[in-house]
Amino acid sequence: MTDIVNVAVIGLGYWGPNLVRNFESLENARVVYACDLIDKNLAKIKRNYPNIILTKNYKEILKNKEIDLVCIATPPNTHYKIAKDCLESGKNVLIEKPMTTSVEEGLKLIDIANDYDLKIFVDHTFVFSPPVMKIKEIINYLGKPLYFDSERINLGLLQKDVNVIWDLAPHDFSILSYLFDLKPISLIAIGSKLKHPYLEDLAHIMIKYENNFIAHIHVSWLSPIKVRKIIIGGEKKMILYDDTNFFEKIKLYDKGVDIDLSKEDVFFPTYRSGDIYVPKIENKEPLKIEAEHIVDCLLHNKKPLVDGYAGLNVVKLLEACDKSLKEGKEVELS
Ligand SMILES: NC(=O)c1ccc[n+]([C@@H]2O[C@H](COP(=O)([O-])OP(=O)(O)OC[C@H]3O[C@@H](n4cnc5c(N)ncnc54)[C@H](O)[C@@H]3O)[C@@H](O)[C@H]2O)c1
Repeated sequence: MTDIVNVAVIGLGYWGPNLVRNFESLENARVVYACDLIDKNLAKIKRNYPNIILTKNYKEILKNKEIDLVCIATPPNTHYKIAKDCLESGKNVLIEKPMTTSVEEGLKLIDIANDYDLKIFVDHTFVFSPPVMKIKEIINYLGKPLYFDSERINLGLLQKDVNVIWDLAPHDFSILSYLFDLKPISLIAIGSKLKHPYLEDLAHIMIKYENNFIAHIHVSWLSPIKVRKIIIGGEKKMILYDDTNFFEKIKLYDKGVDIDLSKEDVFFPTYRSGDIYVPKIENKEPLKIEAEHIVDCLLHNKKPLVDGYAGLNVVKLLEACDKSLKEGKEVELS
């Protein structure tokens, strides 16, 4: 590889143009191709980036030996086939979340990448978001982690090929595995098909982890307001992460409940309520940080922060959610 990463982006609907913009903004990357099946989406790219080569057939990209990285921002059920074709043509890939629509497909992609000595990056964008990185920095202030409680709700956007869990919960699953080195033990998912004709559009997921840690995730396409809130409770402190609050995205609360277990009657809780700390958060687009990281990994042969295995771990949880929805009970995680 030279000192510049040549990039192609497949899928130019809602998310793909963000990848084009961010890779194009880097000094050591260049978007050479952009691909979509729809003329209108190609025309939008043409207006802003007249030098990018446009195509409707992604296989054209694979013939070009100069392309180092192919970004796949097509619907989830197409990721496997396109990523497989890219890897087998010797291209590193950035695959949008969720990496694949089954664990089996995810494992196959990892095998192919290993065989061809290529890198898989998975776009778990929140891992690169300054608020989440700040939480990682201050997580030890919490003491023993107790719980993670997330609300990720909005009106829409209903998806055609994946339910609300596959659409929104990958964000929480990736944040959880980035922040906590804890093994998930079991989960239960409850969902309803209230408006979507055939897929769950509202769901609650509960995951039990080792060390008595518990996560609850509420995802919905049927909320009148957009909420992106996570509360993380610890033995000593608690964090509120409100991604829709522009100025105070993170607050660290010196609050908690103490129970003296040495007393004969243990039910005498005392409530602590101390200071609230609002850390300064860097104002940088997560996708830009991620694009910089990917280019650095490719130019200097470094290990991706979010690789195929990280993508696979999220798909394992998603598949377990489907199983739980289908069977109506808690499922064990291996
Ligand atoms: N990381 C994030 O925060 C984030 C945010 C939104 C979406 N996404 C992910 O990005 C992916 C795309 O989502 P979206 O909302 O942009 O979907 P979208 O439907 O708006 O766009 C997908 C595009 O892919 C194109 N496409 C489909 N098959 C193709 C093919 N064979 N060749 C070329 N183009 C093809 C479609 O024409 C469409 O324009 C999904 O996996 C989604 O989960 C990630």
